[in-house]
Order: sequence, then structure tokens, then C-alpha cells
Amino acid sequence: MSQSFPIEKLQKIKTPFYFYDMDLLEKTLMKVKHNADKYKYVVHYAIKANANVRILEMIRSFGFGIDCVSGYEIKRALEVGFSPKGIVFAGVGKADWEIELGIDNDIACFNVESIPELEVINDIAAAKGKVANVALRINPNVNANTHHYITTGLQENKFGINNWDLEKVTNAIGRMRNINLEGMHFHIGSQIMDLSSFRQLCVRINELQKWFISHRIYPKIINVGGGLGIDYDEPEVNPMPDFEDYFKIFNDNLDLRADQQVHFELGRAIVGQCGSLISKVLYIKEGVKTKFAIIDAGMTDLIRPALYQAHHKIENLSSVAPEEKYDVVGPICESSDSFGKQLALPKTSRGDLVVIRSAGAYGEVMASQYNLRELPKAYYSDQV
Ligand code: LLP
Repeated sequence: MSQSFPIEKLQKIKTPFYFYDMDLLEKTLMKVKHNADKYKYVVHYAIKANANVRILEMIRSFGFGIDCVSGYEIKRALEVGFSPKGIVFAGVGKADWEIELGIDNDIACFNVESIPELEVINDIAAAKGKVANVALRINPNVNANTHHYITTGLQENKFGINNWDLEKVTNAIGRMRNINLEGMHFHIGSQIMDLSSFRQLCVRINELQKWFISHRIYPKIINVGGGLGIDYDEPEVNPMPDFEDYFKIFNDNLDLRADQQVHFELGRAIVGQCGSLISKVLYIKEGVKTKFAIIDAGMTDLIRPALYQAHHKIENLSSVAPEEKYDVVGPICESSDSFGKQLALPKTSRGDLVVIRSAGAYGEVMASQYNLRELPKAYYSDQV
């Protein structure tokens, strides 16, 4: 059982809710910064992973930029005080108002995915008498060996520009007066545990660099995206990913010119382990083949298990009795509202406090109000 939860304090709060370990977040950020700084790498935190204001304030205090995928995320980043100079804007379907917002605020870069999108950005920038910086999101066709819903860098995915279209795209940019081609952008997927995928990405980038140079185009920024995974099985053993090895892979494998910068868009690796979903057991129900532990958190609070068959470690903070097997399920009227089958937990009873670990990324931010439930609140280790 985890020692790090202030159980008595948590017991008094209405469940379900998110609980953030601010100390772990800070340590994680220190480790990211230390290892990225070694190579002068620039990190833009992927706000889609968690847009909670307290979390963002701490990330901002480390001087990181922000990777946004909607105008709403840009607004949130600006509200929290991130500099527009540190905002990059990605996404396969940017609406006109979102592009305008970015241009009005002089954000650092648009990560662009198609010629029609480039044309719209060029037109909007021209109407405002501005020049928009863009990076081309190129589909590197590298397999991230992760869940198919979060694989993005294969040719069959909707993301990015395929290499056979590059000539057409760069020619089009050559004719656009309000576009400045500043970089290349990649993102091969999320929850990547096999670091060799990143090595393969570097090999592809080196090949593409040669293509660009042969066309006398010299992008200044190489944005390699995010995707570094976390240990969902043993968050206690690995509370932080191996940032040292991760950044070293890029340093060892990317061929760069002296004036080039490498940018990263890490989301999950930064915030994943600092967040937990805290819930109480409502009922223990004897099923035909199994015992159900019905808890008051559901797929509306944390959709990852239902949507990606994701595994989050579950602990019972209230019991030390010998273990039994339970299917841990939520109260939502959907069979997919399950957090795991045949999980070994100490004998569990109504009222026990249960923690669902590693829920800091794509947890609170993906919560919904299905069944007209309230959105889960958040509490912080330095404030409870
Ligand atoms: N950059 C781009 C262009 C992305 O599409 C993403 C994530 C990231 C950066 C950040 O990736 P990260 O470092 O967090 O892996 N909801 C899913 C994950 C979706 C990821 C979408 N893109 C989940 O809960 O697993």
C-alpha cells in the first residue's frame, strides 16, 4: 500500500476527486529541465494532458512553453501567464477563429498539416498584415508500438503531411508571402515505452533533413513531439520516466546543423504520475463468476480504461486484510464502465477509500458529465 497519501484528510473530502502530488510534479519538472538543459533542448508542455490551472502555474514557473491543440487551450495558456512566444499550435482541424487568435497573439508557431490549412493561415495573416511562423507536421511513418488509438505517425493515420507531398507543400509555401517556414514537426504517438521508436524517428528526420537541404530549405526548428510513456503498473517503483535516456537518444541520433533547435512536446511524462483519482467503495456485490467492487468514480471521471483498455493501478487505502479478487467497476450505466477485472485487493468493504493511480494525464481533462454527473474536483498535496 502506498504511504504517500494523507488518508485521514482525504477521507473527509467528498468523493470522487482528483488528488495531485505537487511535490512529485515539482521533482519531475526539475528532472525534465535538468536533462533538457544539458542539450539546450526546448520543452513545450502538451496542455491537452492536463489543463488544471495549479498544474499549469507550476509548469510555467519552470519556464517551459506550451503545446496547444485548440483555441481554448491557447486562451487557458495565456490566462495562466504563458508567453505567446512559447506557444505552439498544432491540430489537424484548426478553425478560422483559432488561427486568428494565434495570429493576433503572435504565437511562436503553427504546426501545419495540409496545403488548404496553409492557405487559410496565409490569407488570415495577410488580412492582418502579419507573417505566421509555421512548422510542417510530417508523417514519418514510424511505428510507436502503442495502442492503435494513440498511434499517430503511420501513413494510414489522419495526421501530418506524407513525404510524397512535401515537394508540393514547399512549392506552395514558396508562393505564400505571409508564411515563414520555420521548422519540421513530428509526433509518432503516445505512451511509448520502447525508446527505439524514438531512435527510428531520428533516422527518419536525418533523411528528411537531407531532402530539405537538397531543396535549399533550412528549417531552424526540429520539433519531435511528445509520447514518452509512464509506468502504469508500478508507479511506486518508477514515479518518473527516464528523462536522461530519453533526451540522450535524440542527442546521440539526430544530425543537426549548428543553428538548429530541437523542441519537445511532452504531456503524459510530465503530469501522469502526480495525479490520482480518489474514490470510495459504494457496494460489494456478488456476481455469478466474480465479486464486484462498485466504486463512486466512473468512466466520466477517468475514461482511459473504457476507451483504451488502459490499466491503472488500484489500491485500497483503508484495508490491510488478506487479498481477494474483485472486478472494480463504476456507477455509470455502461458495461465499459470498468477499471479492471480480477484485481487483487485487500478484502474490500463499503466505505473503503480507493485510489486509482497514474491519472494525472488525460484524466481530469477528459472528464465528462454523462449521466449528468458533476465534474470531479481537484485537491493538492500542499493544500489539503
Ligand atoms: N504533441 C502532439 C502533436 C500530440 O498529438 C500529443 C498527444 C502530444 C504532443 C503529447 O503526447 P504525450 O507526451 O502526452 O504522449 N488521451 C490519450 C492520449 C492522446 C494523446 C494525443 N496526442 C490517452 O489517455 O492515452
